[in-house]
Amino acid sequence: MPHLNVPQKQKVHRRMPKWSELRSQLQFAPFERDATTRRLGRAHTISDLRDVARKRVPRSVFEFVDGGAEDELTMSRSRAAFDRVEFRPSALSGALAVDTSTTLFGRSLDQPIILAPTGFCRLSHHEGERAAARAAARAGIPFALTTMGTVSIEDVATVGGPEADQWFQLYVMRDRGLTTDLIARAKAAGFSTLAITVDTPVTGQRRKDLRNGFSVPPQLTVRTLLDIARRPSWWINLLTTDPLVFATIPAGEPEAHAKFIDSVFDPGVSFEDLKLVREAWDGPLVLKGIQSVEDARKAIDYGADGVIVSSHGGRQLDRSPVSLELLPQVADAVGDQIEVLLDSGVRTGADVAAAVALGAKACLVGRPYMYGLMAGGEAGVDKAIEIYASELRRTMHLLGLASIDDLDTSRVRLRPSN
Ligand code: FNR
Repeated sequence: MPHLNVPQKQKVHRRMPKWSELRSQLQFAPFERDATTRRLGRAHTISDLRDVARKRVPRSVFEFVDGGAEDELTMSRSRAAFDRVEFRPSALSGALAVDTSTTLFGRSLDQPIILAPTGFCRLSHHEGERAAARAAARAGIPFALTTMGTVSIEDVATVGGPEADQWFQLYVMRDRGLTTDLIARAKAAGFSTLAITVDTPVTGQRRKDLRNGFSVPPQLTVRTLLDIARRPSWWINLLTTDPLVFATIPAGEPEAHAKFIDSVFDPGVSFEDLKLVREAWDGPLVLKGIQSVEDARKAIDYGADGVIVSSHGGRQLDRSPVSLELLPQVADAVGDQIEVLLDSGVRTGADVAAAVALGAKACLVGRPYMYGLMAGGEAGVDKAIEIYASELRRTMHLLGLASIDDLDTSRVRLRPSN
């Protein structure tokens, strides 16, 4: 064995550095005193916001928002379709700045996103539709108020301000007088666009709501009382602000959500009934919940200015078509005659870019801003919108595109499903 002259390890004497020496190398994050800002600061994606939301509200409320119909197949397939998106970027495109703005029905949107109509917003947060309408107006995107709103048409119009682009979503009611009265109120309040939801002859079966005994207002049971103990601030806010009622249509007795809706909406509504709506509304008219090329064509025949390819977020007919997969066919068939929009499962700015590239003028998002509302009220809705905006900007930049109009079918394909 040759003798190796291995140098002896020198003993190193370490001393604790002084604080003054450390200060130049370490930075302590300033402590955020505001709990909401702290909470929202931890959310970097819509999925993070959902995690925060889950901890803030009673389980029955979270699941009412988060859940889908029956086996939730359409809901999960809608998400999975976006995972199949593959982009085709251009290298060294020279695009210095990115402009995410677009124009819809003659109005400018800062990004191609619309806050979708969602019922019972004030369950998620006591400020409900007011918070969402203000956040949308600030961000330069439209807010759509539902017929099932918990803040009235007139109040939403006031909080948004004169510049706000607000849409009214209408369910055709059994009472046609009430239906035309709502249209007149939306018109008088300055709403820009009317969206008629066409996928809800009856309410889809949301099994989580059934299991949770979901009702509006919440009914007191032993479980609700236990929940109060675990979510005191949500309950205090609910009980110390305006009563939670439908603010636009006559409120029924507290009862199961689906039962009440089915007693008010007309299950027999047909395309012919749209004539009444078209006569009463002279602004842009959109059909929400289109799920076939044939119906998109019919929408044109009955005077619609746009269609929303939508499965209602997978909350109505389970196993209905997946919006993103149907979109190219609808855009191909009617895209040069009316505006084509999309919703259901849009969770990132990259999803928005993909939908626009495949033919949508803009996307509606429902649950994502409700997660924001639950997580942090108005600031939470701001956060949800900011997440989409920064993700969309970054996606376009990485694709090498300067403007929304550059997003076309050459930029994206759907990979075959596994
Ligand atoms: C909805 N949606 C809905 N649509 C509508 O036309 N009128 C309504 O009153 C409601 N209410 C409602 C409540 C809640 C809690 C949710 C989550 C959704 C459907 C909504 O407008 C939109 O189509 C979907 O939410 C889009 O799917 P994502 O973005 O939630 O995946």
